[in-house]
Amino acid sequence: MSILVTGCAGYIGSHTCVELLNAGNEIIVVDNLMNSKKEALNRISEITGKSFPFYQVDLLNEQELEKVFIENEIDAVIHFAGLKAVGESVRLPLRYYHNNITGTINLLNTMKKYNVNRIVFSSSATVYGMPQKVPISEHFPLKALNPYGRTKLMIEEILRDLYQSDQNWSITLLRYFNPIGAHESRMIGEDPNGIPNNLMPFITQVAVGKLPELSVFGNHYPTADGTGVRDYIHVVDLAKGHLKALEKIDTSNGVESFNLGTGKGYSVLEMIEAFEKAAGIPIPYRIAESRAGDAAICFADPMKAKQELGWAAEKDLHQMCEDSWRWQSKNPNGYEESNPHLSKSGDFFYAKK
Ligand code: NAD
Ligand code: UD1
Repeated sequence: MSILVTGCAGYIGSHTCVELLNAGNEIIVVDNLMNSKKEALNRISEITGKSFPFYQVDLLNEQELEKVFIENEIDAVIHFAGLKAVGESVRLPLRYYHNNITGTINLLNTMKKYNVNRIVFSSSATVYGMPQKVPISEHFPLKALNPYGRTKLMIEEILRDLYQSDQNWSITLLRYFNPIGAHESRMIGEDPNGIPNNLMPFITQVAVGKLPELSVFGNHYPTADGTGVRDYIHVVDLAKGHLKALEKIDTSNGVESFNLGTGKGYSVLEMIEAFEKAAGIPIPYRIAESRAGDAAICFADPMKAKQELGWAAEKDLHQMCEDSWRWQSKNPNGYEESNPHLSKSGDFFYAKK
């Protein structure tokens, strides 16, 4: 298939591009690089030995986006592009609504214009708000707790309305739990801007000496050790879920949501212990105030994805921690400092203007 990937240079997009190319698909990729580096695209090419057209285009610019559809045959779209920092979305809600929602509407309008009606959308477990029980199934009530979450929920609803209006659409909403880890080549991984908000990149930056210690956000939750429990999933498993979702939208119309998680929950203290074991490095931490808006326990019921997509996560927590550490230790400054052992040549992909 020929797949348009938006947000291709980001954490999940880059891993998914590798899996798409390895499975023999063609990709056309779009990113405005507002939260990622072009070097990620070189690395995708280097891992797969394949090149692909890259358009440095902002989804807010519908005219430039249209060029991508004019110049390429596109069978389906995987839509990762969006802003994702919860705290920032509370401070700058209009920026989030404009970027995520207007960007998506521009994409959908352009798809409609060029008769492309298959899309896989990056949703999030955040659409379940504060879950009343676990494991979380797709039919649980949906509720957003912040502007970022509301953009995900609104886009899900926009996509449902679109299908109601035209049943030729085929739409998959993938609700990711907590992606961590990196490609085993240690050439691509998570490269957050500034101080990480999420647990695993914070731990790896403490391990590599960039940050002094981890703050554990609260130890009075109703969990075995009092710290928050989440469903961490290897980013390569998550990437593979997109290939299964593409198979599904290739064969049936409709709009369906799927949890992509492992079905297992680990606490913050268990994560620290697992990381220390995988990396062989102690992680200094202190107990801090709990973070506003944090649920105590959140993990998926992943059965629907197993039954209907034939997908299940395969990698365990040890592999997730090992791969997170391999990436961070080989790329202490992320993509910023190009490692000559990893990316010797120039651009492997080709950039389109
Ligand atoms: P990321 O920030 O690494 O990647 C997103 C990419 O989209 C970036 O490269 C950014 O430059 C690009 N982008 C943003 N707005 C754009 C625009 N208007 N036009 C063109 N490009 C644009 O994030 P990620 O972790 O890879 O997440 C991918 C998607 O998955 C996002 O939609 C995110 O909300 C969702 N998600 C992520 C997580 C997570 O924990 N990482 C969890 C649930 C859902
Ligand atoms: C956060 C977002 C969520 C988003 C998800 C993936 C909030 C409130 N929620 O969820 O919307 O979908 O990231 O991007 O921001 N923790 C620490 N110390 C840290 C960082 C985290 O103890 O420095 C704890 C948290 O309290 C939580 C667990 O680690 O219990 C995981 O945190 P995180 O990685 O931020 O993910 P989520 O809380 O699931």
